[in-house]
This record gives sequence, structure tokens and C-alpha cells, in this order.
Amino acid sequence: MSKDRKWQLPVLLVASVLAVLMSLSGCSRKDSSESEKPAVSQEDEATQKQNIVIGFSQIGAESAWRWCNTESIQKAAEAAGYQIIYSNAEQKQENQIKAIRSFIVYKVDVIVFIPIVKDGWDNVLKEARDANIPVIIVDRMINTSDDSLYAGYVGTDSYGEGRKAASFLLNRYAGQDGPFNILEIRGTEGSSVADGRYEGFREGLSKTSKFNIVYSESGDFMRSRGKEIAQNLFGKTHKLLVNGQKIDIIFSHNDAMTLGLLETLEEYGIKPGKDVVIISVDAEQAAIDAVKEGKINCVVECNPKQGPTVMEMVNSIMNGWSIPKSTYIPEVVFHEHEDLSQLQPRGY
Ligand code: AHR
Repeated sequence: MSKDRKWQLPVLLVASVLAVLMSLSGCSRKDSSESEKPAVSQEDEATQKQNIVIGFSQIGAESAWRWCNTESIQKAAEAAGYQIIYSNAEQKQENQIKAIRSFIVYKVDVIVFIPIVKDGWDNVLKEARDANIPVIIVDRMINTSDDSLYAGYVGTDSYGEGRKAASFLLNRYAGQDGPFNILEIRGTEGSSVADGRYEGFREGLSKTSKFNIVYSESGDFMRSRGKEIAQNLFGKTHKLLVNGQKIDIIFSHNDAMTLGLLETLEEYGIKPGKDVVIISVDAEQAAIDAVKEGKINCVVECNPKQGPTVMEMVNSIMNGWSIPKSTYIPEVVFHEHEDLSQLQPRGY
């Protein structure tokens, strides 16, 4: 693993700390058995781990969720004793491509990256493959016909999240005829999570014809955009009307946009959670608090704490073991009809 590396990368921040070994559960060996491995002292193992460098390309810092996600990956790398080079792409795919190319030039051992959108990664990932650098895709997925371009994916089941949002509505409106009109605020255009939530939600609702999605717009996962969309739609009348149609339900693809939207609705004298049913995704602390206050009716969790699982994968790869092609982090649903008073602080 000894490589000639220079750390004065212009846009990259280097952090390294030594700590505990990560659990190996769920992973299988590809080559020799444990007993064939030469004995390595704990000290040597720690030193070997310190020499492992992860290049980590993050999308940006668009939400509290994203901050937590970045911290989870950085802390888990530190705890596992790996060095990590962090690059924040500030919401630009071209910055992510540049970062991955820098990681290749610096000969990192593993690339961990969160693709802002699905398309456009094949060329740079081929370059990583040609340089024999394994890639772990985290949180969002890419669109590719060549699955040899990445070792594995760790993240969220966004299609399942859309289905869970739909299933909340099916239960809440069971026995009522409708029709019920839905306004949808989508996440970043072209991202796997926005597409998954969009498709899963529609698939879940397709069991009945009583729900109509009458308007859908992308808010780019940003709080400011959630606010802006609500202002544009309801600013003139201060009523829950879109193109003359009454809105009964709002499905927002993340908490940041939902919180911006709630602020605007309240300014207009509209009571979220009562005058209009609100469903959100992520389960940030602020959204859980809003469920407790009756302002959000349902939050589908999207778990940002992906770091420990990602480091298990890095550990496996560094040991020559195979990793699963897809690993989903468990996620639950929080809603208005449950007692959330004992819930542990979310940490994001
Ligand atoms: O990719 C996960 C999504 O991205 C989260 O739902 C959102 O909050 C984040 O910005």
C-alpha cells in the first residue's frame, strides 16, 4: 500500500485518525481462508490501515441531512483508522468528475462517491477501473449498463421511500372516496433519489384512482426552493389552490424543502398538517418536531448515517473479500398517530 502521495490538494481536505477495527458481518471472502493469512500484530494492522487512503467525493451541503451524511462517513473512516481525502462538489457534477480524476492521480486506495445525478459517470469510472481503484457508490445510484464500474452500492431505497409515502396515504384515507389532489415537490432533477421517490409514490398510489397528482415541480432538495415554490403557487391568493384546484396533500421529497414550505404556509395563515396533509422524507430532528406539533403528518426516514457500513465495505475490499452489489440502510416511517416523545435525538 505504500504510495508516493502529496497532500497539498487545492480543493481537498485531508483528515486522518487511528481507531477501532470495523465489523466484517455480511461479507464473504473471495480468496484464501483466515487460517492461511500470515499472523499480523494489532500494531501492524493499525499501521496498514493508516496507509489506506479513501478519496471521498460528496455532492455538497444542501441540507442538514447532507451535513450528517458527510460527518458519518468522515467519522467512520477516522474510527476505522483510514485516511480520507474529502471533496465538496458544491452541487456540480463537473466538480465531482474533477475530484475523482484527482483521486486517480493521487492513487488513492478506494473511491467513495455520492453521485449528484444518475447519468454521465461511465468515462470517469472507466478511468478509475483502468487504474485498479475500486469505487463504492453511496446514497444515490448511477445509471450504467456496466456494473463492473463499481464494487458496490451502499445507500437508500428511494423507490421504497416513495412507496411508504403512498402507503401512508392509502391508510389515512381508507374508507374515503376522494378525489384528493396532491402537490408534489421533487428533489434534484436527474438524481436517483428524486426519480425513485417519484416512481415509488406513483406505483404505490396506482392501487386506487382517488388520488390525483395535479402539480409536480423540482425544488432541488433546497429549503429556499421549498419556500419559493410555495410563494409562487400560493402567494397571490393565500389559499391552497393550484390552477384553480384545491390541494389536499403535499408530498415533498425532503425535509429541507418541507421546512421552507411550512414557513410560507404559516405566513399565509394556512395550517400545515390540518388544512393540508404534509408528507416528507428524511426525518431530520426539525421534521420530527413538526410531526409532534401536528404540522407534518408523516415523515419517511432516509438514513444519512451510512458511514459505518461504507467502512465495512472498504475493509472488505482492502482484505480482498467480495462485497454485496447493493446494501440498503434500514429506514422507518414516523407519523402523526404514534407517540414520538421517547424518540432519541436524531443527530441531524
Ligand atoms: O440523497 C439523499 C437526499 O439528498 C436526502 O433526502 C436529501 O435531504 C439530500 O439532500
